[in-house]
Amino acid sequence: MRIRDMQDEILRLKKENDVCILAHSYQAREIVEIADFSGDSYQLSVMAQKAPQKTVLMCGVRFMAETVKILSEDKRVFLVNPLAGCPMAEQMEPEMIEYFKKKNPGYTVVAYINTTAELKTVCDVCVTSSTAVKIVKNIPNDKILFIPDCNLGDFVQKQVPKKEIRLLQGGCPIHAAISVRDVEEARRRYPEALLLVHPECVPAVVERADYVGSTSGIMEFAKKSDKREFIIGTESSIAEHLQYTCPDKRFYPLSKKLICPNMKATTLVDVLNVLNGRGGEEIILSAETLAKARKCIDEMIRLGG
Ligand code: 13P
Ligand code: SF4
Repeated sequence: MRIRDMQDEILRLKKENDVCILAHSYQAREIVEIADFSGDSYQLSVMAQKAPQKTVLMCGVRFMAETVKILSEDKRVFLVNPLAGCPMAEQMEPEMIEYFKKKNPGYTVVAYINTTAELKTVCDVCVTSSTAVKIVKNIPNDKILFIPDCNLGDFVQKQVPKKEIRLLQGGCPIHAAISVRDVEEARRRYPEALLLVHPECVPAVVERADYVGSTSGIMEFAKKSDKREFIIGTESSIAEHLQYTCPDKRFYPLSKKLICPNMKATTLVDVLNVLNGRGGEEIILSAETLAKARKCIDEMIRLGG
């Protein structure tokens, strides 16, 4: 079957069965094309609530599908490829955070949305990369424990220096693998280009960037800029989408290492199979997990909206 025919079949089945397809911006081009909406983690959680359909397919990783379920309990939510997890989301366990809270009372626990639903149940508020600075500023407490990404946490600390932000050792293995040497090499190769990076990169890389932001922040910056060349310091799909959206500009991935195998795991065949009732995984969470994790996400939308 040709890609185009498969996409048409997906669009037909989606309409016939009143299904909403959400895709994170790291998804491949052909997936983004059949989605009702694609965007960054924050935008996806807002769209999850707005979607009128009773069934939602998430083309992304597990924590994203869980977030949709937490926000829309009455909907059937499917993770299109059940093997697509985010290693960062699974780095910390609730017991670790409970222990920290017991030993360090008085901290507000801020969880990056890249965490399991179970971990969210012991946290106070979620953030995404596009809302973290604003939300941490708006929290009425100066003592913050920020988990799990210490690079994003360091970035937030620099923007909000008055607050005390405690960090634990966690983060995205894909972004954290980018080194200063990668930056220097890309700068040498593309001397005219601006460097746009995701705050999951290590502080030494972030400090060398011309712009730091979420996946949608990076895309918006590049689209609006009057510059013509950009080095993209986040997952390789972003450079690819930008190249299609702005064919008169040039986009260079900062490194070949910027490929997230989990984000690349979902294929059109997976989507078609789920629509035909033959695959994916329906997200089922206990009533207790849903209620406790929801408080954290509602708080994110309240403080970040
Ligand atoms: P965004 O919140 O910028 O979409 O990032 C999600 C992610 O997984 C980054 O690695
Ligand atoms: Fe997780 Fe990193 Fe992949 Fe994003 S890029 S899904 S944070 S492993």
